[in-house]
Amino acid sequence: MIEFFLNGHRQRLAAAPDSSVLALLRDRLAACGTKEGCASGDCGACTVVVAEPDDDRDALSYRTTNACITPAHQLQGCHLITVEGLARGDALHPAQAAMVACHGSQCGFCTPGIVMSLFALHEQQRAEPSRALDGHRLEAALGGNLCRCTGYRPIRDAALSMATHADTRPSWADDPTLDEQVRALPRRSADSRYLTPASLAELAQAMQAYPSAPLVAGATDLWLEATQRLTAYERVIDLRRVAELRRIEETADGWWIGAAVTYREWEPLLAAHYPAFAHLLTRLGSAQIRNRGTLGGNIANASPVGDTPPVLLTLDARVRLASAEGIRELALDEFFLDYKQTALQPGECVAAIFLPRPEAGVEQRVWKLSKRREDDISTLLGAFRWRIDGGGHLRDVRIAYGGMAAIPLRVPAAEAALEGKADLDAAFDAAKRALRHTLTPMSDVRGSSSYRMTAAVNLLERWRLTLARPEPVDPTQEVALDAYAH
Ligand SMILES: Cc1cc2nc3c(=O)[nH]c(=O)nc-3n(C[C@H](O)[C@H](O)[C@H](O)COP(=O)(O)OP(=O)(O)OC[C@H]3O[C@@H](n4cnc5c(N)ncnc54)[C@H](O)[C@@H]3O)c2cc1C
Ligand code: FES
Ligand code: FES
Repeated sequence: MIEFFLNGHRQRLAAAPDSSVLALLRDRLAACGTKEGCASGDCGACTVVVAEPDDDRDALSYRTTNACITPAHQLQGCHLITVEGLARGDALHPAQAAMVACHGSQCGFCTPGIVMSLFALHEQQRAEPSRALDGHRLEAALGGNLCRCTGYRPIRDAALSMATHADTRPSWADDPTLDEQVRALPRRSADSRYLTPASLAELAQAMQAYPSAPLVAGATDLWLEATQRLTAYERVIDLRRVAELRRIEETADGWWIGAAVTYREWEPLLAAHYPAFAHLLTRLGSAQIRNRGTLGGNIANASPVGDTPPVLLTLDARVRLASAEGIRELALDEFFLDYKQTALQPGECVAAIFLPRPEAGVEQRVWKLSKRREDDISTLLGAFRWRIDGGGHLRDVRIAYGGMAAIPLRVPAAEAALEGKADLDAAFDAAKRALRHTLTPMSDVRGSSSYRMTAAVNLLERWRLTLARPEPVDPTQEVALDAYAH
């Protein structure tokens, strides 16, 4: 049984462990306002808002999610808000009224998802009215909603004019006890086919008892197996309630980031210490994806084009693996073995990832090339870390790429060509030659092998030019993240 609230009404219903929120809405609850476009988290047509109790706060947080790839059982103990739940009788919510007034609904199919993203934005604005609704926030809120008829202008106008419409609240918002009722629901599933262990010990037990059951965190990779490949899961082990996986532990040397911490939760720490890395997160998926996707999922998924592994490799990150046998630690570059193969043993999970504290003088650049700026997987990602000593020599050089091999990897030959060098032109020429000799990139739909090699070499050149500039550039202001592959 899944117990949750839908637009203010309590629900209690059974569902298969591999059901999605979208299937639950459309097939079981006859709530067909939420549409299916791509069934892969890309288009945003299925966007809904899930309000759930934060681990450390009393208030419920309202966040967008892609219903097509959200496990139905992750609604346990939550309040689900759909496009049917916004208007108050005939009075439209400002997100809807603005879309009507600005002719933002063109095809109509993507409209419910866009309205839900605008609803979430409006709720954020209500909570923090003094925060400017600038272009960056607008893009972050709507980046996961595609309009294929290219009519973004009226949608953007609608977003910017929501505040000029009557602030109609949904009827469910009248109930002052609703948040309390949601929080009173159990957070763990009572369904033996959808396990929600609460501690590492319980998780280890579950993995041992059901070795073939997939682990799921945000489901932003795993659930595509169900929607795109029609893989059926008889039993699933959910990591989102495991306390040890949900925390960020600070030490003198850095931070252990729990594997089930979401990008949204992790971003403030990065913004404070690694601005270039934090900027990358603004280009990782969409708000819907970042609200649920986790660092542990990105690493365990071991995609050659996952965004965080190359960056973490340049930072000498470590992983903590856990099983019934105990805990072990590995350097991240020992974790990726071959295409989609990792050092994880059966019954073992990623428990946390160690992010070292930045050392004084160390600099970092991260450049992602993708076909689309928003909500797109990398064609190629280059991550670079270095410092310059008193004599002008490059030191502690780290170079890592995603999209250049079957796994994300460092390029020691190119690093050696730069390490300790002060004559940068000659050293970078040598590093480019080393890169060409060492790697044979893959060809796929995102880019040919020759495109990838040319682009990887060009990123080295971009780095050289960055070093040659007399004035340092704020890594968060660089335009390369917005570059497009072709
Ligand atoms: C529309 C869309 C856009 C995306 N854009 C990007 C992008 O720009 N960059 C990018 O890098 N990725 C992107 N992704 C991929 C995905 O969002 C990320 O890889 C995300 O970090 C996965 O985390 P998750 O918690 O959702 O993983 P899940 O889907 O829950 O799990 C992924 C895999 O890892 C396993 N797993 C999860 N956690 C653990 C653990 N702790 N220990 C062991 N195994 C585990 C699962 O069994 C599964 O096999 C995108 C996905 C979608 C759908
Ligand atoms: S249907 Fe396209 S994101 Fe869900
Ligand atoms: S309004 Fe739906 S695709 Fe543009």
